[in-house]
Amino acid sequence: MPTITYQHQQITLESGKNLLEGLENAGVEVPCSCSSGVCHGCMAQALGGTVPAEAQMGLSANQRRLKYFLTCQCYPKDDLQFTLAGNLEARTTATLVEKRVLNQRVLMVRLQADIDWRAGQHTILWRTETRGRTYSIASSPDDGFVELHVRRRPNGLVSHWLEHELTVGDQCQISPATGDTYYSPAMPGQPLLLVGTGTGLAPLTGVLRQALNDGHHGEIYLYAAAGEPQYLYMVDELRALAQQHADLHYFPVVHRNPEHQPDLLLGDLVELIPQRHPRLRRHLVYLCGAQPMVDFLKEYCFYRGALMEDIFIKTFSPGEKSPADAAMAGQQ
Ligand SMILES: Cc1cc2nc3c(=O)[nH]c(=O)nc-3n(C[C@H](O)[C@H](O)[C@H](O)COP(=O)(O)OP(=O)(O)OC[C@H]3O[C@@H](n4cnc5c(N)ncnc54)[C@H](O)[C@@H]3O)c2cc1C
Ligand code: FES
Repeated sequence: MPTITYQHQQITLESGKNLLEGLENAGVEVPCSCSSGVCHGCMAQALGGTVPAEAQMGLSANQRRLKYFLTCQCYPKDDLQFTLAGNLEARTTATLVEKRVLNQRVLMVRLQADIDWRAGQHTILWRTETRGRTYSIASSPDDGFVELHVRRRPNGLVSHWLEHELTVGDQCQISPATGDTYYSPAMPGQPLLLVGTGTGLAPLTGVLRQALNDGHHGEIYLYAAAGEPQYLYMVDELRALAQQHADLHYFPVVHRNPEHQPDLLLGDLVELIPQRHPRLRRHLVYLCGAQPMVDFLKEYCFYRGALMEDIFIKTFSPGEKSPADAAMAGQQ
């Protein structure tokens, strides 16, 4: 049994449990958001011992060299000593400058914060020192603010707090932006295919804004889907943008259209995209939102000619929530 040491405290890990779970069982509150290796919120730094390679997946070469690792992905086989100190230091204070309910499901917030990001990346917005949630950045750095599209959940630890407690002028903490889904055309004139469900539109909006700001040469196709028309958002804004840019083709998509609203595509993205885009050679593809759609279209786009390195994906699957999350959510 390896010896795991955090601040002179020995942590005992039950078999099959990761370090994040072991720490929380021992009463140590660890910052975390996704519990699935995506957000990097639970990052720790080894001071000694051996870091399992899988706990460093997705980290930069520099972070790996400095022995940073993700506690939620860490199943230590050898002794390990570590600190969580750098985790808090990396955060930035952000000020809420705008908050608007866009529809029944989506809240838009804008933050003023001194952080660097690439359009399409995500950050963690922290409600407390240790409890945060990951959100994709919908603005481009040229906009000068960090815009998030937050799915409103009645018991949402962060979404409910953001909507009902944080007010304009209040401050909160956000993490450095991470993620490799961002606007990065390899060739001029490369067509862009942006496909999203729900708030998967957020990273796509970031990529779109950046592409337009950079004078992207090439057609841009944006498909944003929701179950019914009232769950679509930013429709007027995106239509107006499409009128200003001849190369931008925007398609709001719904599963049901009870009032037969015009100008909406009816159907499922996994059928519509193959019907409308049979050839995808040279395309730069961004797929964001529901896992089944992303998985299906990733394979489809590859088989229809897009290079795997030109297909960027982001899914929002809920991670396992820790006991501390459940306890905090129960308080509201
Ligand atoms: C890389 C990444 C980027 C993301 N970007 C965005 C974004 O731009 N906008 C956005 O709204 N969300 C985004 N998410 C998801 C976001 O982090 C979750 O919506 C968040 O965990 C929900 O937080 P909450 O405070 O609202 O609710 P929580 O307190 O986490 O959960 C409340 C309840 O809702 C359920 N729940 C939470 N998430 C989901 C889900 N996805 N599907 C079904 N049930 C769920 C929980 O199981 C729980 O019962 C992203 C996630 C990742 C990993
Ligand atoms: S990467 Fe570990 S909590 Fe998100």
